[in-house]
Amino acid sequence: MSSDLANNDFKELVRSRTDLVALVGESVALTPSRGGAEFKCLCPFHDDHTPSLTVYPDRQSFRCWACSTGGDCFTWVMEFDKVEFREALETLAKRAGLEMPTFAGRRPENAVAKTDVLDVLAWAENEFHRCLLDSQVAAPARDYLKERGFTAETITKFKLGFAPNDGQWLIARGRGKFSLEPMETARLIKRSDEGDGYYQFFRNRVLFPIRNDKGRCVSFGGRVLPQFAQPGVGKYINGLESDVYSKSNLLFAFDAAREGIRKTGTAVIVEGYTDALISHQFDVTNVVGVCGTALTQAHVDRLKRFAPRIVLMFDGDEAGQNAAEKALANYLSENIDLRVLVLPDDQDPDEFLFAHGADEFRRQINNAVEAWDFKLQTEVNRHGLESIDARHRVLTSMLDLLAKVPKLRGSVKEDVILNRLSSRTLLSEQVVRQRLAEARSARPEGSKGTLPNHNVAAAATPHRGPETTGRTMSAPGEALGHKSHRVDSAPANRSLCFLDRSLAKGDLMECELLEIIFTDPSTLDEIRREIGDEDFYNEQTRAVLQVCFDLLDHDETPTFDRISAVIEDAALKRLIVWIDEQARKKEIAAKLKDNLMVHSGATAPSYLAQTMEPIRFRRAEQQHQRNTGRLAQQPDARAGLNSNAKALLEQATAFHQKRAAKAT
Ligand code: UTP
Ligand code: MN
Repeated sequence: MSSDLANNDFKELVRSRTDLVALVGESVALTPSRGGAEFKCLCPFHDDHTPSLTVYPDRQSFRCWACSTGGDCFTWVMEFDKVEFREALETLAKRAGLEMPTFAGRRPENAVAKTDVLDVLAWAENEFHRCLLDSQVAAPARDYLKERGFTAETITKFKLGFAPNDGQWLIARGRGKFSLEPMETARLIKRSDEGDGYYQFFRNRVLFPIRNDKGRCVSFGGRVLPQFAQPGVGKYINGLESDVYSKSNLLFAFDAAREGIRKTGTAVIVEGYTDALISHQFDVTNVVGVCGTALTQAHVDRLKRFAPRIVLMFDGDEAGQNAAEKALANYLSENIDLRVLVLPDDQDPDEFLFAHGADEFRRQINNAVEAWDFKLQTEVNRHGLESIDARHRVLTSMLDLLAKVPKLRGSVKEDVILNRLSSRTLLSEQVVRQRLAEARSARPEGSKGTLPNHNVAAAATPHRGPETTGRTMSAPGEALGHKSHRVDSAPANRSLCFLDRSLAKGDLMECELLEIIFTDPSTLDEIRREIGDEDFYNEQTRAVLQVCFDLLDHDETPTFDRISAVIEDAALKRLIVWIDEQARKKEIAAKLKDNLMVHSGATAPSYLAQTMEPIRFRRAEQQHQRNTGRLAQQPDARAGLNSNAKALLEQATAFHQKRAAKAT
């Protein structure tokens, strides 16, 4: 946490210029609830199946009730981009169009920050794009794109580019602007094998910028021009992975497709860069590409946050069929409507669109068969259904697939599948089930429960511990240092009711007082007269209280916003959001107000006094224990009372009276 309050002005400026709802909405699909007072979405920080994450527009905070990740806009960026506070601040400052003040940005020497890498990529994207549009050397590339039917609008919108056939081109253009270091980190240049020079990674290629969720260029796909195609030279070169580019996470054109995917409830996945771009050009905007890699669990996880249906549009060749089959095995147990589409006549989406137009393309997408039926049809085509023997062969290959997905066992989905399998193969369901049991027991022990090629991202299992992701997912209860109550195997261990129980009584008292401060900061004066930060025993709650007092010392009202701006630590942020949420749930505002009306002038203690009392009592009790310890050590306690001992005795008496009063 920063104690430099001057720093906080900038942080708060950034916060005030950032709408959390818009920010979160850039990465996940938000649904308004409570008439727009709140927004809900599937939580991206755990494997969520019901929308567990709530965004509170009024507080500009978010929290997932299931995994208890929560905080403000900075926390969101820290968690989502997996970066430290400094970088989250830089990201959001940039997003808000604010210049980082010099005092705010200090990072370790020789580490290239992601933002620098993204800057150099944005610059390079622009250089390549301008080269394609204007340069003499790009004339063949312009001709090629035109011939392929790319409109000027598509070329501009997706910022297609051209990399000249000169290994020093980009380096020369960057001289005086960028050092080689971020260029290398961005994988734009490579150190040459012989000598110590650098050369440009993409040469003589049409470039398709690959963007992250936020539309920032992170890499490129580079296509060779047909006249330079040679055996042994890849048609496409895909950018290498880097700090900012992970192929298994990223989907090509996702930033442009997000809205279309959300609106249609369908995400279409194609194999090629051109296929995705031409789809968008034909105004079919719910299409994304995989960047020369297989479909991964992370891809599927990302898409299913936006749409319940995923259509895999693979080429009709063997490779496409294999990819579809692999995907089916991997995602059969997922809670998604997975469909497979192979376009007629072995056309790829790009060819199909130019030949048949967007309406026919959409019709194909809407009629895509379920992945399961696709596989079944493939097997039927292979073996036929005429003889009983052929039907058994179809059955066997389908059951082999089912047996690979242990999660399906006993599920409704399994029932449906077996039923369909039985009616399709004309074999009784009893036979089908028996054969499935056989297929399952035939699988070697070691392979049970795992899938070949199952590219499971860490995010796939709901019970994973924080250590598997490097993210701190600890609940506020854990943030408060109470890990002993954790029941690791129970999914409920992250729910709020569990949190409540996981808090020690003393921590709860402290949280309750913070609830009041967050609800009505003007109570802090009165609180401070009674309670000091040494009265909070929990390190975390004490840190929060100290922030409140700090703000007060600087003549600032410790509003939730202010407190939130000062606190950088992720665990503390999670804690304050949780406390704030508790405060609303318990309607502390109403309690404070009721108290005023009912008890004004009356003797009954206010809600604030009631909340402070146990904390004061605890202090008195501790004091008493210390005193009695000290009294016992006094050589002649009863006889010659010195003044010090006398004071201690008086305190002890007062304490006993208080305790007696409390008991009644
Ligand atoms: P295709 O060979 O189907 O190419 O590869 P395409 O997309 O139809 O390309 P055009 O229409 O000829 O321009 C599909 C995808 O496989 C990856 C690329 O991502 C490509 O878009 N690929 C293909 C490579 O990574 N390297 C290659 O050499 C070829
Ligand atoms: Mn193609």
